[in-house]
Amino acid sequence: MKRRDFIKSVSAAACAVTLLPSAGSLMTGCKNPIDEEKTSGIPPVANGQWDFDEVVDRAGTWSIKYGRAAEGQIPMWIADMDFRTAPAVSSALKERLNRDVLGYTSTPEEFYQSIIRWEQEMHGWHVDKEWVAYCPGVITSINQAYLTFSEPGDSIIVMPPVYNLFRMYAERLGRKVIDNPLLFDGERYRIDFDGLERMLNEAKILVLCNPHNPVGIVWEPDALKRIAALCRSKGIIVISDEIHCDLTLPGRRHTPFCSVSEDAAAVGLVFASPTKSFNLAGLSMTSYCVIPNEKLREPYLKQLRNAKLDEAPIPSLVATIAAYTEGAPWLLSLREYLQGNIQKVIDFFSQNDLGIKAIPPQASFLVWLDCRAMGLPQDELMRFFSDKARLLLSNGAMYGQGGEGFVRMNIGCPRKIVKEALERTRPLV
Ligand SMILES: Cc1ncc(COP(=O)(O)O)c(C=O)c1O
Repeated sequence: MKRRDFIKSVSAAACAVTLLPSAGSLMTGCKNPIDEEKTSGIPPVANGQWDFDEVVDRAGTWSIKYGRAAEGQIPMWIADMDFRTAPAVSSALKERLNRDVLGYTSTPEEFYQSIIRWEQEMHGWHVDKEWVAYCPGVITSINQAYLTFSEPGDSIIVMPPVYNLFRMYAERLGRKVIDNPLLFDGERYRIDFDGLERMLNEAKILVLCNPHNPVGIVWEPDALKRIAALCRSKGIIVISDEIHCDLTLPGRRHTPFCSVSEDAAAVGLVFASPTKSFNLAGLSMTSYCVIPNEKLREPYLKQLRNAKLDEAPIPSLVATIAAYTEGAPWLLSLREYLQGNIQKVIDFFSQNDLGIKAIPPQASFLVWLDCRAMGLPQDELMRFFSDKARLLLSNGAMYGQGGEGFVRMNIGCPRKIVKEALERTRPLV
């Protein structure tokens, strides 16, 4: 099936289930009509629609997000969502558990085929089976790539403000981290190619966040091609973290790094996972790599085998297969809902002069808030949000250079919580 037909078919499937008219495309898919408050205990499917307005009670589930929140604070920091996972995923897991068979398990053909089909139909990338392997969570897998392709003392380039664990584990493993900060003109972020070119001589690896957390950029093919050509000319390996790629927002399309050119396929390792898009972060270490170049793939997979990290746990297999074969209609509906939440944030801060500006994300459920006009030092800014607004947000400073004066707000929750959170930022006026 061609990508466009696939998107049409999942949109149509989503609409058929919801009894809404088919919108015919990913970008204009079904709207969730349920916009009002719901309380916990309401089933996940209301009137045939996925109910993202449901307030799911996470008490007693050992949630890290809620565990760190003080009484009365709304936790909007770590990147998981407060929604139930897709019904297709939980049904598949329950069915598998009902068999009570949990012995050593091999990776079935369906695992590979579900990924191959997903990459083709969601992202327009033809992937050969031999390029794909199960991996144990994106950060663990990136760490294994650091170990495979660099030695202690070698340098790894990151482009801050960026997901903090790239740096943290590189340093823990004795690698040096070189910053090539993104350029920001107050509206948009771009890659500093001059800076990148200068530092490529010193480094072994570039870590790309595609789409980019926390600034929410979906990198354009031209930028990716340019990175690939530069890195190939200098013999640099590119680790492309694509964990947020299935959450592109209406009007945006993700480009898998290795799909963009021959150079990219020669130097790139793609890491992706259904954990962000289907909200499975705590289930089990779940991700996969796609590595077209055998000269990179062989040593990398050997590294995984030697560390005994190559055996997929049952929940990873079952959840990935279910998400990628039956989860698309739910995901498309989720993306529409997230866009609605993001629009609320953008509108609120543009209509209320609080010194806070939302940078519209192009993917995912994380909104980067530029609070520099509030004129507060970072620790006071964080105190404002935690103590006055009673919101637990991610501190922009932890994402490295360019993060001071910013916070990251996770809007992967029912809309009424987003509205409440926004109202709480008013104390400054
Ligand atoms: C860009 C990025 N990579 C990786 C991760 C974590 O992935 P995993 O839990 O599979 O290690 C996150 C989580 O927020 C992330 O934002």
